[in-house]
Amino acid sequence: MSDRPAEEQDARAVEPAAPQRSETEPGVEPTTGPTPRPTTGLTTRGRTVHGEPANAGHRVLAPDDAEVEAYLETALKAPPPARPATDRPGGGRAEPDTVVVLDFGSQYAQLIARRVRELNVYSELLPYDTPWPEIERRRPKAIILSGGPASVYEPGAPRPDPAIWTGRVPVLGICYGLQLMAHELGGDVVPATKREYGPASVTITADDGLFAGLEREQPVWMSHGDSILRPPPGFHATAQTSATPYAGLADPERRLYGIQFHPEVVHTPRGRDILRNFVLGIAGARPTWTPANFIEQTVEEIRRRVDEHARATGSDGKVICALSGGVDSAVAATLVHRAVGDRLTCIYVDHGLMRKKESELLRQTFERNLGMRLVMVDAKERFLARLAGVVDPEQKRKIIGDEFIRVFEEEAAKLGRIDFLTQGTLYPDVIESTAPETKAAAKIKTHHNVGGLPPDLRFQLIEPLRYLFKDEVRAVGLELGLPEAMVMRQPFPGPGLAIRIIGEVTAERLETLREADWIVIDEIKAAGLYRSLWQSFAILTPVRSVGVMGDGRTYANVVAVRAVTSEDGMTADWAKLPYDVLARISTRIVNEVPGVNRVVYDISSKPPATIEWE
Ligand code: XMP
Repeated sequence: MSDRPAEEQDARAVEPAAPQRSETEPGVEPTTGPTPRPTTGLTTRGRTVHGEPANAGHRVLAPDDAEVEAYLETALKAPPPARPATDRPGGGRAEPDTVVVLDFGSQYAQLIARRVRELNVYSELLPYDTPWPEIERRRPKAIILSGGPASVYEPGAPRPDPAIWTGRVPVLGICYGLQLMAHELGGDVVPATKREYGPASVTITADDGLFAGLEREQPVWMSHGDSILRPPPGFHATAQTSATPYAGLADPERRLYGIQFHPEVVHTPRGRDILRNFVLGIAGARPTWTPANFIEQTVEEIRRRVDEHARATGSDGKVICALSGGVDSAVAATLVHRAVGDRLTCIYVDHGLMRKKESELLRQTFERNLGMRLVMVDAKERFLARLAGVVDPEQKRKIIGDEFIRVFEEEAAKLGRIDFLTQGTLYPDVIESTAPETKAAAKIKTHHNVGGLPPDLRFQLIEPLRYLFKDEVRAVGLELGLPEAMVMRQPFPGPGLAIRIIGEVTAERLETLREADWIVIDEIKAAGLYRSLWQSFAILTPVRSVGVMGDGRTYANVVAVRAVTSEDGMTADWAKLPYDVLARISTRIVNEVPGVNRVVYDISSKPPATIEWE
């Protein structure tokens, strides 16, 4: 797919950072009082995509592989993975240079960490009140303080351990982080006379290290209701706007820097350069956090662990992995395969609810190209039989989860003693992990009446992606040589096409939807739009409508097309697809898919609608 149209690449270039609902940025809300602990995206951990407690709802936070893994973890009763605070990439041998991001509640906190990593420097997101010894243990090259919704002068406003101000480690305060720096070190912060939200222009007044190489006037993204009246001793102003003379502060001697605007969002075009100046320039971090280094270290670590376990227990060190067709399990399996070769067996339960050609791509990639041991279980009939007559979406999900586990267990039991289970847990799943049980297990209802594997079957978990954000998983996948169609695949729900057929799932209706869906994806890809959309797909509605074809009247199915843009699936906008793309999709579906005579486009956003129809 190297001949990908240019606009697709462009679309991707602007994709990640756009603050989709900027008005919900906590930092821009007029403050309503002290926040003992900021509410952030982090607090949605363990919640469904609808914001309900995870184990009370049906939909998992992370789409794609997560659900399969959650089922497995629950079903197989794997012990909670050991994730000590000291767990870091490199396993204590070749730890990458690290930037610690302290989270004061900004919706952009994760984005800051991602931006740092885009500079090939590892970054970790920690709660704002992490004690200094915890921070120091990570040997950070720099600390970044995120924005946040609170006001520094209010009682109970979140504060970091004051030891961060000693100058031993360079600190960059962003927005609330800057105000905190000013307030804590002896300056004055007051409610702004003129609040600044959204796009603004700053004038750089001191060409210090942070702004090296930047033009004097800079478009930036602002969001603050407080303002610095007087900087603390030792600091000088480095940037100003029409509303504030202190849009930037620096005390280069103590290596303390602050900026009022957000360098992490795309609306601050030179934001990356500012972060680069700080992380690579001022802090001198080495940019060694690359997919290639990650792969090398991870493969070595997995091999060492499996070998040691096998030696200690006299076992073969067998590993299993459930492939789902999604990118996470694919990348995790490939890393483990590089480490332990044939000791890994992958199991793919083909429930018959996948999109067209996906199962073939999986076999092609893993069995033929990578030479993996792959057990492909054709369970289509079993799933269809259990889904017969079922129309309730929750019932469908329950049946699919339950049947998945049964099939997986049957296959796993045939493999004899297994020592490890591979999972594609990602960094956002483990951030601030406080729950005693693992997050994945907490994510779903444990509603399954799970049959047991042999009681002596005790797995340990291998979670090779636990340090990575999703975009890093994709970069690693490409570096490993996995096909783009797999690595760049849009999220796809665990229950697959079953929840996109409204009403009963039958072999015939699956076939109709698969064909219609294929056309949607084909046209979206041809238009270079695939990667700029969070998801794009077809739904088979239970509605039939009258049409004319040739000389005859038809009475046939209505297919709905859904395409949305989103940052994380929590909120979404319907995509303003070009009319000609919609026209081609519609014409082709009606002409090429038997039994469909009408196509409609879903123009609902989330909320109030959800992305899926069921
Ligand atoms: P909704 O429809 O709730 O979906 O707006 C948000 C995201 O979650 C995915 N989704 C699921 N993923 N199992 C999954 O693994 C499910 O049952 C499920 N339901 C929805 C959906 O595709 C979207 O990305």
